[in-house]
Amino acid sequence: MRLTVFLTSLLSSLTLVHAVNTTVACSLLNGLLPGKVAYPSSDQYVSDTKHWATGSSSQASACTVEPSTPQDVALIFGVIQKTRTTWAVKGGGNTFNPGFSSTDGVLISTVRFKDIQYSPMSSTVKVGAGNLWDDVYAKLIPLGATVVGNRVPGIGVGGFSLWGGISWKTQKYGLGLDNVVSFQLVTPTSQILNVSAHSYPDLYFGLRGGGNNFGIVTSFVFKTHPQGQVYAGVVTYSGLSIQQEYVDFDTSNKDPNAYILPIYVYHGGVLSTNALVFYDGPVAPNGTYDAFFNAANLTSNDVKTRSFLEFQQTIHIPAPTRTATHVVSIANYTKPIVDAIVTQHLNLSNVFADAEFIMFTMEPLYSSIFDSSNGGAYPHTSAHPWKPFNLFLGYTNPASDAAAMAAVMSAATAVQQIAIAEGKSSLDAVLDINYAGLGTDLKYLYGKNLPLLRTLRAKYDPHNLLSLTGGWKL
Ligand SMILES: Cc1cc2nc3c(=O)[nH]c(=O)nc-3n(C[C@H](O)[C@H](O)[C@H](O)COP(=O)(O)OP(=O)(O)OC[C@H]3O[C@@H](n4cnc5c(N)ncnc54)[C@H](O)[C@@H]3O)c2cc1C
Ligand SMILES: *[C@@H]1O[C@H](CO)[C@@H](O)[C@H](O)[C@H]1NC(C)=O
Ligand SMILES: *[C@@H]1O[C@H](CO)[C@@H](O)[C@H](O)[C@H]1NC(C)=O
Ligand SMILES: *[C@@H]1O[C@H](CO)[C@@H](O)[C@H](O)[C@H]1NC(C)=O
Ligand SMILES: *[C@@H]1O[C@H](CO)[C@@H](O)[C@H](O)[C@H]1NC(C)=O
Ligand SMILES: *[C@@H]1O[C@H](CO)[C@@H](O)[C@H](O)[C@H]1NC(C)=O
Ligand SMILES: *[C@@H]1O[C@H](CO)[C@@H](O)[C@H](O)[C@H]1NC(C)=O
Repeated sequence: MRLTVFLTSLLSSLTLVHAVNTTVACSLLNGLLPGKVAYPSSDQYVSDTKHWATGSSSQASACTVEPSTPQDVALIFGVIQKTRTTWAVKGGGNTFNPGFSSTDGVLISTVRFKDIQYSPMSSTVKVGAGNLWDDVYAKLIPLGATVVGNRVPGIGVGGFSLWGGISWKTQKYGLGLDNVVSFQLVTPTSQILNVSAHSYPDLYFGLRGGGNNFGIVTSFVFKTHPQGQVYAGVVTYSGLSIQQEYVDFDTSNKDPNAYILPIYVYHGGVLSTNALVFYDGPVAPNGTYDAFFNAANLTSNDVKTRSFLEFQQTIHIPAPTRTATHVVSIANYTKPIVDAIVTQHLNLSNVFADAEFIMFTMEPLYSSIFDSSNGGAYPHTSAHPWKPFNLFLGYTNPASDAAAMAAVMSAATAVQQIAIAEGKSSLDAVLDINYAGLGTDLKYLYGKNLPLLRTLRAKYDPHNLLSLTGGWKL
C-alpha cells in the first residue's frame, strides 16, 4: 500500500518535471521563432500533428514548430538540449510505428522546407525535406525526368529516403537511399553540415539507413533519371488469387522494366487481390502480363499506356485507424511460400476480430534491386537481393495494440519458417527498415554495421538528445 503511494507520487513528480521541461521549451521556442510555434487546436497544430495512421501514429504534443531554415533547426536543438524536453521530427507522417514521428513534447514539422530545384545538366534535383514525392513528380515528370521516390501518393521524402525507399524504379536504380548525392543536415549539437561522400563520409554512410539518428535533414540532392510514358494500372481479382501466376512471374522475369505488385486484401469482411502493374515503357513486350490478364477471378483491369504521374496519382490505399506491420525477407517466391502467405492471411482475418483491413504485399522484385548499392548504414548487397514481403494489419481499438502486433509477428514467423525450409530466407536476413515492426531487434536492420553506427551516433550526439525521441534508436 505504502509502496503504491510512493510509486504514484514518484510518477506524478516525474510527469511534472517533464511537463515543466516541455512548457519551458515551447515558450523559449515561441520567443525565438515567432509565428512558427503552434499550440493545441490551432490549424497549424492540427496539420502538424496529423499522421496517415491517425490513431496509432499521432500523439497530442505540447506544441509544434515549423522551422523554415537550417538556422531555425539549430536554434530548436539548442532549446531541446537546454530543457531536455521530448521531441520528434515529422516529414510526410506516414510511419507505421507509434512514436516515430510523434511526441507528447515538441513536434518539429519539416513542412516549410518546400524548395525543389532541378538541374538537368547534372541530372540532380535538390528537394526540401518537407515535400511529398507527389510534389517532386509534378515538377519533374512533365520535363521527362523522375526520381527514385514512392510508388503511391501522399508519402514524404524524409522518412522514405533516410530509412530505405522502394520505388517503381528500384529494379533499375536501387533504393531511395542509393540515390542521395548530398544531405543538408542539422546535427543535435546545432552544426549545419553539407554531407556528401567527400565532405563527411562517416555521416554520408550513417544517413543512408540511419534515419533521424544523426539529426534533422533539411534538404536532399537526389539523382534524377529519364522518365517517359509507362504501361501501368491496377488489376483486381476476387479472393486471394494469381498465386501460381505470381510464382511463375517471379521465377521467369528477366526484364528489369517489368514489375507487378500483388496485394492480398481483406476489407469490410471481403477478400480480394489488387495487383499494381508497372512496365517502365509505353508498351510491354508481348506476353509479359498475359497470365495475369487471363487469370481466374479477374474483376477489373485498367492497365494502359499513360503518364507516370497519372498512374502514380490514381493508386488509392485506404488509411487505417491504427496499424501493426512487419516484414519477411524472401529471396524468391515458391508455391509453398505463397501457400503459407495465403494460409496466414486467412488465419489473421479469422482470428483477429478487430481487423479494419489487412494487406499482405508480395514484391516480385528483379534480383538486380541491390546492384546500385554502394554501402551505407543499411547493409544491402547484390549478393543478397532480399525482397520484402510486407504484412499490414489495420484495426481500430487501442486495447488491441499488443494482440495486433503479436498476431502480425506470429504470421510473419510462420511464413519465414516455410521460406527458410524452401531455402529462400535466412534467420539473419536483413529486413526493410521502413516496413519492420515496432520492437524489431536492430541487428536485423543494421547487421554488422551496428557497433560502428553506435560510435558514430555518440560522436555527433554527445548530449544524447536521441534518447528523448522515437524511431530506430542506435
Ligand atoms: C500508404 C503507404 C504506402 C507506402 N509505400 C511505400 C513504398 O512504396 N515504398 C517504400 O519504401 N515505403 C513505402 N511506405 C513506407 C514509407 O516509406 C515510410 O513510412 C516512410 O518512413 C515515410 O516517410 P514520411 O516522411 O512520410 O514519414 P514520417 O512519419 O514523417 O517519418 C518517418 C520517420 O522518418 C523520420 N524523418 C522524417 N523526416 C525526417 C528528416 N527530415 N530528418 C530526419 N528524420 C526524418 C521521422 O522522425 C520518422 O522516424 C508506405 C507507407 C504508406 C503509409
Ligand atoms: C528536465 O530537465 C532536467 C534538467 O535540464 C533534467 O534533469 C530532466 O531529466 C528533464 N526531464 C525529462 C523528463 O527529460
Ligand atoms: C551541398 O553542396 C553542394 C556543393 O556546394 C551543393 O551543390 C548542394 O546543393 C549541397 N547539398 C544540399 C543538400 O544542400
Ligand atoms: C478464385 O477465388 C477463390 C476465392 O474467391 C479462391 O479460393 C481461388 O483460389 C481463386 N482462384 C484462383 C485460380 O486464384
Ligand atoms: C505482339 O502481338 C501483336 C498482336 O498479337 C502482334 O500484332 C505483334 O506483331 C506482336 N509483336 C511482337 C514484337 O511480337
Ligand atoms: C492463427 O493465428 C493465431 C493467433 O495469432 C495463432 O495462435 C495460430 O497459431 C495461427 N494458426 C496458424 C495455422 O498459423
Ligand atoms: C533467386 O532467383 C535468382 C534469379 O532466378 C537466382 O539467380 C538466385 O540464385 C535465386 N536465389 C535463391 C536463394 O534461390
